[in-house]
Amino acid sequence: MSAPDLGADPGPSEARIGEAVAHPNLALVKYWGKRDRSLNLPATGSISISMGAFTTRTWVKFGDERGRDEVIVNGEAADGGTATRINDFLDLVRTEAGLDGKRALVRSDNDFPTAAGLASSSSAFAALGLAACEAAGLNPTTSELSLLSRRGSGSAARSIFGGYVEMRLGNRSDGQDAVAAPLAPSEHWDLRIVIAVTDPRPKRVGSTEGMELTRKTSPYYPAWVETSSDDLRRARDAVKNRDLSALGEVAEHSALKMHACALASQPGLLYWRGGTVEAMHAVREMRSAGHAAWFTVDAGPHVKVLCGPDDVEALEGRLRCIPGVSDVLVSDVGAAARLIDPPSEA
Ligand code: DP6
Repeated sequence: MSAPDLGADPGPSEARIGEAVAHPNLALVKYWGKRDRSLNLPATGSISISMGAFTTRTWVKFGDERGRDEVIVNGEAADGGTATRINDFLDLVRTEAGLDGKRALVRSDNDFPTAAGLASSSSAFAALGLAACEAAGLNPTTSELSLLSRRGSGSAARSIFGGYVEMRLGNRSDGQDAVAAPLAPSEHWDLRIVIAVTDPRPKRVGSTEGMELTRKTSPYYPAWVETSSDDLRRARDAVKNRDLSALGEVAEHSALKMHACALASQPGLLYWRGGTVEAMHAVREMRSAGHAAWFTVDAGPHVKVLCGPDDVEALEGRLRCIPGVSDVLVSDVGAAARLIDPPSEA
């Protein structure tokens, strides 16, 4: 794996600590499909909103000893797949900083329920990238951090920034232009995300695997990729003009189109449960009754509703009554990933 250019002096080589927080983000125009697996380059651009009510906090220390990284996520040792993914990601930072082979200690905690399907890999790799660079004595720009975080998880490239963010598709084969950039800060537009949690079980097919299956087997995949630039243009304009119905319409369209494409894979990817479908209907009924609310659904069963602050109470009340909805969470628009200074000592 070639290391991204983090463009700074490695700094002193003694053990250092970095600690950072990042918010998960919700894609309004979805990323689903890769054009290059090893560099983790997306096949489409995407646009997201940061979810400020939820935070991942990650602490990293590089020691002088060699060996496997020790990774604790939400108080428990990370399992094989997660540990390998984090180890591979940290290798990019080690290579750049001249810390080859130096073992890292990583502790990462989410303050939101893991079962809520909140795209925790977005905040996880954004916080990890930032904390690891600090611990390694690197001093990357936000664009460099976004490029780095993308290597861990595509959606994490967006969580480096707050507010409304666009992940650019890019066209370079080395991926150096596949990077996120802010569209507007959180203060630009005071929106809310209301989340109907429908099924606490972990999803059976993760995003990485699901999007590969879709790319390889869905007859609708070429159309999905081809039509995304139009969705991006509509969403970009809607954010700029603070046009909630335009943004909501394109968000609902992008989500349903992504699921239509995934459903047509072989075997078909069915992320929805009964409560998912009922919640989607409820949002449309509320809209008919005059509430400005639109839904989106990621690679899981939960329904996320985009609305203004005035509609939160009514939506929350309605969603809580749906059989199959176990909880309802609310978020405002979040800020960028940031370092904790000073970091905790241990
Ligand atoms: C449905 O970013 O989790 O949430 O790059 O393979 O880690 P990897 O995928 P990931 O996929 C996110 C998929 C999505 C849509 C989105 O966030 O854009």
